[in-house]
Amino acid sequence: MVGTVLDSTGTPARPEAFDSGASLRFPQPPKASAPTATAIHARLPLFSPIFRMLTATDLTKEYQSGESRLAVLKHVTFSIPQGEFVAIVGPSGSGKTTLLGLLAGLDTPSGGAVTLDGVDITRLSEDDRAKLRGEKVGFIFQSFQLIPTLTALENVQVPLELRGDTDAAERARDLLNRVGLGDRTGHFPTQLSGGEQQRVAIARAFVNQPRILFADEPTGNLDGATGERIVALLEALNRSSGSTVVLVTHDTALAERTSRVIRLKDGDIVEDRATGTVHAAPATAGDAR
Ligand SMILES: Nc1ncnc2c1ncn2[C@@H]1O[C@H](COP(=O)(O)OP(=O)(O)OP(=O)(O)O)[C@@H](O)[C@H]1O
Ligand SMILES: [Mg+2]
Repeated sequence: MVGTVLDSTGTPARPEAFDSGASLRFPQPPKASAPTATAIHARLPLFSPIFRMLTATDLTKEYQSGESRLAVLKHVTFSIPQGEFVAIVGPSGSGKTTLLGLLAGLDTPSGGAVTLDGVDITRLSEDDRAKLRGEKVGFIFQSFQLIPTLTALENVQVPLELRGDTDAAERARDLLNRVGLGDRTGHFPTQLSGGEQQRVAIARAFVNQPRILFADEPTGNLDGATGERIVALLEALNRSSGSTVVLVTHDTALAERTSRVIRLKDGDIVEDRATGTVHAAPATAGDAR
């Protein structure tokens, strides 16, 4: 479904500088050209609102269940600075996927607000939210959401085609190589294993180097070695492009590799802690918006 495919035209850098495997690097974001602005940014406190990539304020989500209302998220509030690498963890049914959908503007809350890169997305029309997602957000769905009538290569190309890139096929092929699917580019989703479909979905979410990437259980269907390759890709995107990464995982080892763990239980945040793992500086002067 084209409407769920997300791209990122906000990042002008191109992925041709990729290395292979875990040492993969993304091009550096462009530096600010005005020295005065750079100097001002550099002197801002790190957690100044200008560096907040994502803020959830008093976020609630309820569903009608027969006669009663089911509260799936209960007044969730937190803030994520630009460039942070965050894991959302918690038991099945605790609201992780629901929260990710709200944060990415794929769904609307029952109450509260989400601010993404300075824009209150809960006040936008559906069309404007879609546009913003297209410019800034990558999303790896728990259920992959590949387009069944397109091949693996075409699925990855879609976000690039939507913004009119002429080298879409070449870049999509490069990404598929990097997730280990260079020999499956012509396969349709039904001809791919679950883990292979997941990797196509990951390549698609990466292809535009989104400013913020949401990933719902990105290693859930992968063996250890393949999962490691995907985690290395996520880390590279975060480290080299300064992209903010928010992932949902049941994998405690993966959660500890991020810099911050937010734990949900029954729709509430019950823990929010730094892991001690150091990642890319949350923001650079030239990257602030
Ligand atoms: N459309 C819906 N209508 C009613 N209830 C829903 C709907 N979507 C989700 N829920 C309920 O909201 C709760 C949270 O679902 P969610 O998918 O966010 O959980 P999760 O933490 O991602 O779980 P998992 O780890 O199993 O993926 C669940 O109890 C689910 O049944
Ligand atoms: Mg889920």
